[in-house]
Amino acid sequence: MSRPVLILDFGSQYTQLIARRVRELGVYAEIYPFNRPQSEIEAFGAGAIILSGGPNSVTSPNAPTIGQWIFDQGVPVLGICYGLQLTCHLLGGRVAASDDREYGPAEIRLRSSASDSKILQGLSQVQGVWMSHGDRVEALPEGFSILAETDSTPYAMIGCEHRQVYGVQFHPEVHHTPEGLDLLRNFCLSIAGLSNDWTMADFLDRKADEIRSQVGSDRVICGLSGGVDSSVVAALLQRAIGDQLTCIFVDHGMLRQGEREQVKTLFGSHFQSDLRVIDAESEFLSALEGVTDPEQKRKIIGRLFVEVFEREAKELAGAKWLAQGTLYPDVIESVSPLGGPSVTIKSHHNVGGLPERMGLGLVEPLRELFKDEVRLLGRELGLPDHLVQRHPFPGPGLAVRCPGLITRSRLETLRAADHILIEELYSTGWYHRCWQALCVLLPVRSVGVMGDERTYEEVLSVRAVASTDGMTADWVHLPHDVLGKIASRIVNEVRGVNRVMYDITSKPPGTIEWE
Ligand code: XMP
Repeated sequence: MSRPVLILDFGSQYTQLIARRVRELGVYAEIYPFNRPQSEIEAFGAGAIILSGGPNSVTSPNAPTIGQWIFDQGVPVLGICYGLQLTCHLLGGRVAASDDREYGPAEIRLRSSASDSKILQGLSQVQGVWMSHGDRVEALPEGFSILAETDSTPYAMIGCEHRQVYGVQFHPEVHHTPEGLDLLRNFCLSIAGLSNDWTMADFLDRKADEIRSQVGSDRVICGLSGGVDSSVVAALLQRAIGDQLTCIFVDHGMLRQGEREQVKTLFGSHFQSDLRVIDAESEFLSALEGVTDPEQKRKIIGRLFVEVFEREAKELAGAKWLAQGTLYPDVIESVSPLGGPSVTIKSHHNVGGLPERMGLGLVEPLRELFKDEVRLLGRELGLPDHLVQRHPFPGPGLAVRCPGLITRSRLETLRAADHILIEELYSTGWYHRCWQALCVLLPVRSVGVMGDERTYEEVLSVRAVASTDGMTADWVHLPHDVLGKIASRIVNEVRGVNRVMYDITSKPPGTIEWE
């Protein structure tokens, strides 16, 4: 594989996006916090370096910074927003704090005197960009020249060709900068000369080799949940080590309709994996009997899941490894400009402590990947589209969509309604436009009329959200006729529901799941 790009994070909300864009070009990229020791940064062996944006002013005393040595690595450097200002500041230019922050769409004009610059090749003379800056560059460092300007910013793009150091005052990584990817391509491929050989097919071969040398002839356990990440991990391990893999699927009784059968068909029959399906529905439901507090529910499910999993895993003599679907966003050390402790909103269901308790080593083959890359890898491994494109589903399953008491019959109601919702979103083409869509069965009854009969049943809330990472979300403006069809099918076909509501709360202040 060609040398990777190193992105140094100075706290921008877009840092991950830079890495994703570079990877879209076929060049592997990783993110380090700006304050990693020089020795580690040098040991990374970058073929090009990008300095990210950030919310600070380079003129403030506590501004994140780095040594000048970063420009002496013999590889091209690109500073984005804060990265441009830091470049000017470190290399002897003048940057002043300014009260006028410019943020939003702007138009840049390329300087005709700079038309030979490799970073500008193929770019339009005048183009829209997404601008963002607080500080103002007042004088360029020696050897630098202006490559592009806007009406209000003379230093929209700068460069020093012989040192191969560049800076842009806008965000090339966001969609609002339509030619941003071309600019990054010029930087990574033409200027740094990197090859675009980071493909999922290559990744798959490389990872399979790595897994084989990590685990040797040992047995590996993989917890399957039916979701995208664990399915991709299992399929990858199956490809790499075949019958050294045992998959464990715990049916806690709070899964979606048909989920258990789908897992059995795909992994048991199609991939011919050693699949253990554990029917633990009764165990979970009796532990949850009488419990209505959301945190308590989550804790009970989390604890029991680990117990059940551990019990099964202990029976597998000789297992030495546990495979997990940890993704790159969970691995990146974040640079938080705000810092401070955060409160627990919801205890997440995870099996993080399991490997140490059981004395197992960890296999985490997706640690380098973003979610969209995991989906691509899933395709490469031959997983079906409906699985690869599946909405996220929480570990505690339908339990967090069942406020009040969790009973077998309420879960059945919820499962049937969820199935209709997903079916309708699929058939109307809305499924892929939602990050997630779900039903919540409210412990509230209302009076209704069906035929000549009075009904007194529970209320169901439908929720569909758009998001890129689940951290923030907007409710989706589903067309009225789609909502109408969902509501009437649910009320007509699902026993126990006589009223349907649509949840129009964004996150924040709401969370995606209700509990
Ligand atoms: P909230 O409800 O916190 O959810 O806005 C954000 C995203 O996380 C998912 N979620 C979970 N995923 N285990 C998981 O693996 C959990 O315990 C869990 N709780 C919430 C949720 O579905 C949404 O995508």
